[in-house]
Amino acid sequence: MELLTVEQALADFAVLLQALQRDLGAQDAPTIAFGGSYGGMLSAYLRMKYPHLVVGALAASAPVIAAAGLGDPDQFFRDVTAAFESQSPKCAQGVRDAFQQIRDLFLQGDYDTVSREFSTCQPLSGPKDQTQLFVFTRNAFTVLAMMNYPYATDFMGHLPANPVKVGCNLLLSEAQRITGLRALAGLVYNASGTEPCYDIYQLYHSCADPTGCGSGPDAKAWDYQACTEISLTFASNNVTDMFPVLPFTEAQRQQYCQEAWGVWPRPDWLHTNFWGGDLKATSNIIFSNGDLDPWAGGGIQQNLSASVVAITIPGGAHHLDLRASHPEDPHSVVEARRLEAALIGKWVKAARHKQWLALRWGPRG
Ligand SMILES: *[C@@H]1O[C@H](CO)[C@@H](O)[C@H](O)[C@H]1NC(C)=O
Ligand SMILES: *[C@@H]1O[C@H](CO)[C@@H](O)[C@H](O)[C@H]1NC(C)=O
Ligand SMILES: *[C@@H]1O[C@H](CO)[C@@H](O)[C@H](O)[C@H]1NC(C)=O
Repeated sequence: MELLTVEQALADFAVLLQALQRDLGAQDAPTIAFGGSYGGMLSAYLRMKYPHLVVGALAASAPVIAAAGLGDPDQFFRDVTAAFESQSPKCAQGVRDAFQQIRDLFLQGDYDTVSREFSTCQPLSGPKDQTQLFVFTRNAFTVLAMMNYPYATDFMGHLPANPVKVGCNLLLSEAQRITGLRALAGLVYNASGTEPCYDIYQLYHSCADPTGCGSGPDAKAWDYQACTEISLTFASNNVTDMFPVLPFTEAQRQQYCQEAWGVWPRPDWLHTNFWGGDLKATSNIIFSNGDLDPWAGGGIQQNLSASVVAITIPGGAHHLDLRASHPEDPHSVVEARRLEAALIGKWVKAARHKQWLALRWGPRG
């Protein structure tokens, strides 16, 4: 795990790229880095750290500001809430009511009703189970908002087209709010329709990223990164968002990371090493974001210079522009891809021209 750093990942790409160029006889081919989400961060950083190897980068849905610890901790779940609120204010209110009912039943010690209506595999009791039930459920909303694509996807689980809308319909079609919440969570945790009950500790592992780490070895790797260089101290507060109060402070992160990995997070390092949001000094990077994506608010959404450009994709979820084209694509993403291709074409042409000048006039030309 000690090699698992952003710096090492970039160095690996740099060495791999040169080897590929050699093997393919493509030493002179101008290279563009592409990536989405954390991969989008890496593609931007690759351009910043190795500008002699990559002439430009497309950083899709790259939360460079949030991950450097420079964002607003309430931003993420506020924007998840906004995705549901804009789908239907009644839906967001239904979610608030469901969480409130669960909280009230816990306060009354009526754990059985919650366990039954939510179909948990183990009987619930006490504050630890309540918190786990809350983070388990909140995570379903995170996934639906991020994956709110206009067509069915198999990217993070198996989701229908427009999953936020589908989730809201499921929630509101149940007579009871808690069973509605269970039905909505089923889009994420019961896509197969074969889960007789929810094993809330098995289906969701709390980790150093409150938006979820997933499962398996990838989840472990991401958890470690969120415990070292990547700061994701997002919280929900039941005021600016529709979720229960679930804080995740730097102190909580430190304690968790000590227990899980025996490491101390370095909350300022990404900012120091990769400049935070002050990226005017670099060049040839596109930061694209979909306005439906809760990660957009943690990224670059303003043009910083003539060649460090922000593209907003109305109606777009998490890095929709990097997905294959689809008949259901909104016009906005078709336009965004066209603009991205034009900018990249310009960079490649400029790089070729520089090579030509160097050949003709020597390196000082
Ligand atoms: C999962 O889906 C199946 C089929 O719709 C349903 O019978 C079952 O109750 C669901 N499980 C949970 C925990 O809601
Ligand atoms: C959210 O805040 C409201 C208003 O203060 C409160 O009634 C409700 O119980 C809170 N919900 C949760 C889940 O804490
Ligand atoms: C940034 O500049 C591009 C053109 O290069 C333009 O299409 C885009 O709308 C601008 N973005 C913002 C957020 O102003």
